[in-house]
Amino acid sequence: MRIHLIVIASALLATFNAFAQSSPKDIIPAPVQFEILQGTTNLPDAKDMDIRIGNKKFLKKIKPYGLEDWQVKSAYYMELTPNGVRIEAADNEGFFYAIQSAYMMQFVSKDIQCCKILDWPRFRHRGMMLDVSRNFQPKEFVKKQLDMMALLKMNRFHFHLVDHPGWRIQIDKYPLLTSFSAWRTKDDWEDWINDGQRFLNADDPGAHGGFYTKKDIAEIIDYAAERHIEVIPEIEMPGHNFESIAAYPYLSCLDPDSKEHLKNVQELCPGNEQVYEFLENVLLEVFEMFPSKYIHIGGDEAGKGHWEKCPVCQAKMKAEGFSNVEELQSYLVKRMEKFVNDHGKTIIGWDEILEGGLAPNATVMSWRGTEGGHKAIAEGHDVIFSPTSHFYLDYHQAEGQYRAVGPLLPLKQTYSFEPIDENISPENVHHVLGVQGNLWTEFVNKAWHAEIMLYPRLFAVAETGWSQPEKKDYESFYARAMQWNKVLDYLGYRHF
Ligand code: ACM
Ligand code: ZN
Repeated sequence: MRIHLIVIASALLATFNAFAQSSPKDIIPAPVQFEILQGTTNLPDAKDMDIRIGNKKFLKKIKPYGLEDWQVKSAYYMELTPNGVRIEAADNEGFFYAIQSAYMMQFVSKDIQCCKILDWPRFRHRGMMLDVSRNFQPKEFVKKQLDMMALLKMNRFHFHLVDHPGWRIQIDKYPLLTSFSAWRTKDDWEDWINDGQRFLNADDPGAHGGFYTKKDIAEIIDYAAERHIEVIPEIEMPGHNFESIAAYPYLSCLDPDSKEHLKNVQELCPGNEQVYEFLENVLLEVFEMFPSKYIHIGGDEAGKGHWEKCPVCQAKMKAEGFSNVEELQSYLVKRMEKFVNDHGKTIIGWDEILEGGLAPNATVMSWRGTEGGHKAIAEGHDVIFSPTSHFYLDYHQAEGQYRAVGPLLPLKQTYSFEPIDENISPENVHHVLGVQGNLWTEFVNKAWHAEIMLYPRLFAVAETGWSQPEKKDYESFYARAMQWNKVLDYLGYRHF
């Protein structure tokens, strides 16, 4: 228990203290229930710290609420009085979330209104995706965002590691992926596209880019795990593979000698057995690096034109009796799912993996609206909602805001998302794993800009993932988000 006390004490010494007093009303995401008591307390001076993890009294306290096991693990009870703090939780995870709530109040003011809080999450996937392919970010940036995710009680970091403009993870069997496909002629994505999308060798003068070594990845995973965050890697297939084809041209449908693959060919050749060998070898190293249950295999936006003309693809389709190229994509996804399942893991794919027939155990990430998610749920699959309409954090937050893509997506719109609607029958609600905000980085090449896109909208994603729907109220949320923007200033984060 000693270590926990040290965690609390050091955590609570750091205080922004811009407001006269804080209370559970300041916490993002809004807790399930709280009660305000008489008086204020000052945690660093608290004489009595009573911490009980895994005790029967707590389990009895939350029993009436009929929670799922995963909710019980994350639940906590915290009581703050003038004499000190009491925390009860079934598991270290719940204890950790109690500390985040204490942190949240302490950052607002060191004088905290005495209170009792009983709290647990609504959804099990409260995610954030960062695209480090379009624009690479060093591991320090990633850790900084993991810190904020932890404060917001978010628990899944989707690491978009590989894509058209750069491969960002060490794979020993295919060294060109990081000695070549991680480095490009221009730092900025748009400049690079306009400059003919050329890669360079790592030691060429003017090579821009970077990648994470296996040691870096281990460091990030450990850092996340200490904050109860699971890191889910994404290895894109069969589209968005310009960079791997640039390094290993035999992976596309085109003749490697023709150099045609350098003209924006994104798709792997699903007819070619060498492609499966490549993907399986890459995944074997990924399995070794990432303890997470999930592996995201992408599956989005594959242009299938080359497959129509490729003799190898056509032969595969004939042999398998396929009548269209969607079935060929589905063949690749199902085959890769089996490989991932055989290694004890589960795939997540973007909602295009529904086309041509969904792989039997796949979890679907619904991004082109919510229809794909609803269809997958109706077929008995788990779903994570990250629709462009609400959770694409690369979209503009206001007219004229910096360089960005997409329509306007202000804070209020992100906050307004409700994952459970009339399209989901009550017996299928358990298939909704949760929600996720995605930061694609085509137009986001600086760390400060990435933070401006993330905050405060990530607060809205967090509250949608954790808080009960009846606790959601935009006016209250907006006030807390603006208050937290001030805390972000103090903590050294940029925000909109
Ligand atoms: C996506 O935005 N292409 C998943
Ligand atoms: Zn082909």
